[in-house]
Amino acid sequence: MIKLPLHHQLYQRIRTAIETGTLQPGERLPSVRALAKEMGVARGTVDQAWAQLTGEGYLLARGAAGTVVNPNLRLPNTPHAKPETLPAQGAHFPDTLWRPATLLPFQMGVPALDAFPRKLWARMGARYLRAMGTEALDYPPPHGLPDLRAAIAAYLQMARGLRCEAGQVFITSGWRHSLALVAQALLSQGDAVWVENPGYPPTRQLLREAGFTPVPVAVDEQGLNVDQGIIEAAHARLAVVTPANQSPLSVSLSLPRRQALLAWASQANSWVLEDDYDGEFRYSSRPLPALASLDASCRVLYSGTFSKVLFPGLRVAYLVVPASEVERFEHTSRCFFAGAVPAMVQAQVQAFMAEGHFTRHIARMRKLYAQRRLEAADALAQGLGAGMRAEPAPGGMHLLLKLAAHLDDRWLAQQLLAQGMAVQPLSQWYAADPAVPGLLIGFTHCSDPADAFRLGQAIRRLTGF
Ligand SMILES: Cc1ncc(COP(=O)(O)O)c(C=O)c1O
Repeated sequence: MIKLPLHHQLYQRIRTAIETGTLQPGERLPSVRALAKEMGVARGTVDQAWAQLTGEGYLLARGAAGTVVNPNLRLPNTPHAKPETLPAQGAHFPDTLWRPATLLPFQMGVPALDAFPRKLWARMGARYLRAMGTEALDYPPPHGLPDLRAAIAAYLQMARGLRCEAGQVFITSGWRHSLALVAQALLSQGDAVWVENPGYPPTRQLLREAGFTPVPVAVDEQGLNVDQGIIEAAHARLAVVTPANQSPLSVSLSLPRRQALLAWASQANSWVLEDDYDGEFRYSSRPLPALASLDASCRVLYSGTFSKVLFPGLRVAYLVVPASEVERFEHTSRCFFAGAVPAMVQAQVQAFMAEGHFTRHIARMRKLYAQRRLEAADALAQGLGAGMRAEPAPGGMHLLLKLAAHLDDRWLAQQLLAQGMAVQPLSQWYAADPAVPGLLIGFTHCSDPADAFRLGQAIRRLTGF
C-alpha cells in the first residue's frame, strides 16, 4: 500500500471526522502547536493539512480566536445521523469490512508489514518472471497449483498436526471464498449455522446475505459454548469456530469443548468449519494442534490463510476438506470459483515454502510479536494510568481493553480514529445486544511502543478515568 505523506493523512482524518459528524460545524480545533505536540509531528505538517482543509472550506481560520470547523457547512451527516466510518448496528448494509482509507496504527489483523522480507520476495518474483514459459500463461488448475497444495498439506502435518493429502487442499482467495465454497457445497437455503458471539462480523454477514440462518452461540472463557448451541439449534448443519485464538476474545477452545463439538457434529451429521486464521501465533506455549487433528469422524473442514503469516495483500488462503467430500468440493469449486488465484502468486508462495523462508518467517514473527505484545500492553497501561491494563492473551494479534459498562466503545473508536488510531469497538462484534464494550487493539503492526502510550493517554482523556 502506498503510504500517504503525514500531512495528507492528517487532512483525511480531519475531513472524515467532519463528514461523519465527529467534529461539528463551529467546533474549535486544538491549536497547531498543541496538535503537533500531541501527534508527535512537525508543526509544518499540521500547517499543511490546515491550509488544505481551509482552502477547501472545511475549516475556518479566525486569527487569534483559533480555527473552527466551518459553521456554515451543511453536511448530509447531521449530528443525529449515524457516522459512516464505522458500521452502524442494524443498518441496512453494515460495512463489516470496515477499514480506514490508509494503514493506521493498531489496525486489527495486520501483521508486521515493516518486518516482511520484501527484498527477498522481490528477488523471487523477478526470478519467476524470468523463468516463465508459455505454459505459465495458461489458466491455472481449477483448485490450485498441485505443488502448492502438496506444500500446504506437508506444512499442516508438521505445524498443525493435521494429516491430509494434497487433493484435499483447495486454494482460495481468502476467508470469504473458503466460507462461500463450504456453504455452496454443503448447505441448503435457510440452513442454521452456529456462529460465535461475539464473532467475526463478515462471517455472520456472508451467511445471512447468502440465505442461511446464522445462530449466535455465546463464547465464554472456554470458547464456544457447545451446550448452548445444542439448546439453540441442535439441528444446525454447520458450526463456524475459531478454536486457536477465538476472534475477537482470543480464548482457545478447551479440550472438553472440542470433544463436545466433535461429538455433536458426528451425532447430528453436521459439519464444523475451523477458521484457523492466526493459529500459528501463540506465545505462552507451542501452538495448539488444530481442532481438525482430533477429528476421527471426518466432520471438520479446516480453513487457513496466508494473510497473517505472510501479508493480506496476497489474497491466498486454503480449505482442507475430508477425503469423503473431495469430489463434491471439486465440483462446486470448478463450477463457481475455478482458478480464482493467479498462478504467479501461488507459485511464489510455493517457492517461498519450498526454500524454507516460510517457516523461518513465521518463527521470526512469533518472536517479534511476543515482544510487541508485551511492549504494547505495558506502554498502553502507562498511558492509561489508574491501574488500567489490557492483559495480553496467550495468543493472537490484538489486545482487548475491557471498558466499564456505561462507556460507548463505538463513540470512543470514532474519536480515536479522528486522532489517527484505528482500534475497533468490541460491541460491534456481537450479533445483538447486550454487547460488552471494549476496544480491540492490534499490536503486531505496532513497531513503536510510544504509539501505544499515546493511545492509552487518549483513551484516558476521552473516558475521564
Ligand atoms: C476471524 C478471521 N477469519 C479469517 C480471516 C482471514 O481472512 P482472509 O484470508 O480473507 O484475509 C481473518 C482476517 O482478519 C479473521 O479475522
